[in-house]
Amino acid sequence: MTRLVLPRMLERSKGVIVNMSSFAGYNPIPFITLYSATKAFVDFFSRGLNAEYRKQGVIVQSVQPYLVKTKMTKIRKQSLFVPTPETFVKYALNTVGLESQTSGYPSHSLMAWFSRTLPKWYRMKLLVDNCLKARARNLKKQKEN
Ligand SMILES: NC(=O)c1ccc[n+]([C@@H]2O[C@H](COP(=O)([O-])OP(=O)(O)OC[C@H]3O[C@@H](n4cnc5c(N)ncnc54)[C@H](OP(=O)(O)O)[C@@H]3O)[C@@H](O)[C@H]2O)c1
Repeated sequence: MTRLVLPRMLERSKGVIVNMSSFAGYNPIPFITLYSATKAFVDFFSRGLNAEYRKQGVIVQSVQPYLVKTKMTKIRKQSLFVPTPETFVKYALNTVGLESQTSGYPSHSLMAWFSRTLPKWYRMKLLVDNCLKARARNLKKQKEN
């Protein structure tokens, strides 16, 4: 996609590319490790390109949300920490041109900030514990169906 759109943007010295990374892209998420690694790629790719092309008028932004109520997450209820896609996008678009790397949504930025205050080993321990619990729940559900 970048190959397709970037040359025309450079000709016009204008353009915005918004790439969807994830909070899983700045902290490895065990048991969805491959997903997490691809999101780290998206983040590095976007930030690198932004540094290369910003002065030529093209913005490349890396968006790193926590959970959003979408088909992918299968979350049914929105909440303060789980916005609908429409709400998320409304907030995230306001960050274009201001933040090259963003959580995109106020409560997600708060979680990102808080998460970064924790020691890395403890952050990873929490993630492993939570992911193991979620995995056990899903395996149980699969057995029941
Ligand atoms: N939801 C979250 O909590 C969350 C958190 C962090 C990051 N993200 C990232 O945000 C992005 C969007 O996620 P989402 O939650 O909105 O997922 P989603 O509800 O599953 O939506 C994915 C969208 O991508 C389209 N799509 C899937 N495969 C495609 C393909 N091969 N070619 C063209 N379009 C394709 C789908 O089209 P159809 O509707 O036609 O299937 C759908 O519109 C992803 O990159 C995800 O990693 C999401």
